[in-house]
Amino acid sequence: MRAALIVRPGQPPSLADRDEPSPAPGEVAVDVLAAPITPLDLLCATGTSYFGVPATPYVPGVQGIGTVDGHAVWFPTAAGMAPGDGSMAAKAPARREDLVFLPDGVDPVVLAALGLSAVAAHMALTWRGELAPGETVIVLGCGAVGQAAIQLARLAGAGRVVAAARSSEGRDRARRAGADAVVALDADFSEVAAGADLLLDPLFGAPAAAAAQALRPGGRWVNLGGSAGETCPVSSSLLRSRSLRLSGYTNNELTAQQRADAIATVARHAVRGELTVDHEVVRLADVSDAWRRQAEGTAGGRIVLVP
Ligand SMILES: NC(=O)c1ccc[n+]([C@@H]2O[C@H](COP(=O)([O-])OP(=O)(O)OC[C@H]3O[C@@H](n4cnc5c(N)ncnc54)[C@H](OP(=O)(O)O)[C@@H]3O)[C@@H](O)[C@H]2O)c1
Repeated sequence: MRAALIVRPGQPPSLADRDEPSPAPGEVAVDVLAAPITPLDLLCATGTSYFGVPATPYVPGVQGIGTVDGHAVWFPTAAGMAPGDGSMAAKAPARREDLVFLPDGVDPVVLAALGLSAVAAHMALTWRGELAPGETVIVLGCGAVGQAAIQLARLAGAGRVVAAARSSEGRDRARRAGADAVVALDADFSEVAAGADLLLDPLFGAPAAAAAQALRPGGRWVNLGGSAGETCPVSSSLLRSRSLRLSGYTNNELTAQQRADAIATVARHAVRGELTVDHEVVRLADVSDAWRRQAEGTAGGRIVLVP
């Protein structure tokens, strides 16, 4: 079968011929319809992630949409984090208990683009972030997580959503996603988002420290990524004087049931046309170029590969 194959860590995958998966007990072979290229795929393939250097060669792709016995499913894999192949192929192995059966009418490409990015946005807002109706949320960055977070905050009843992104394209995406106010990352957050209840932060670094200045006493700050910096210059006096609650979030801490419920929520909103992120559809055959563009940030949104 046709598959994307990483042969050496740090190099983009290329199209290759790979044996079809032969599922172990408890596994199935999914007929893949769509597989996104996500920051986690890119990171794992570098060999510098906290999962270590992946065993090569392997098929990347930590999630995908496909069919099993004619039913549409979302499925995760551990590609790049543990030995084994992922979703960027005509067929992919998945554990039967991890399959999430999807509602009628779901667009595989749209749901693939949303995938675990939207799960992270949803769970960081509602579970870790304890978003309550009427609250003000600051969303940093407007990639897939940011776009999903703006829409999901609104759907969860947020009163006001303030979005901040470094590029004008990112700020345009934030406006289209429905943010009430959109600013650059060097804005005076105390002015545009004074008294905010929740900071949804995939960036960390200087932008998160600046945005945290706007949080109200007892405000919550949920970090789920470090796109702007691995460290963040926040002062102890800010944290103490406002009794801020700073938490980390990772999808890896979710139980299979929490993850399945979150995918179901995301799929339901997607079917209703309430939730989407910018994406670009690329043939699996063009995976090398697509991988490079996603890594460089020059793609037209989340790239979704179709076999
Ligand atoms: N914790 C979890 O479970 C979880 C789950 C999913 C994602 N994440 C993390 O969340 C982050 C965002 O993921 P994503 O899917 O939204 O990625 P994405 O679609 O690639 O978007 C990344 C966004 O970050 C912005 N950005 C990149 N470098 C930046 C910098 N130096 N300063 C300011 N902004 C910068 C980009 O802004 P421009 O568009 O303006 O260039 C882009 O909008 C990543 O770090 C990812 O690993 C974590």
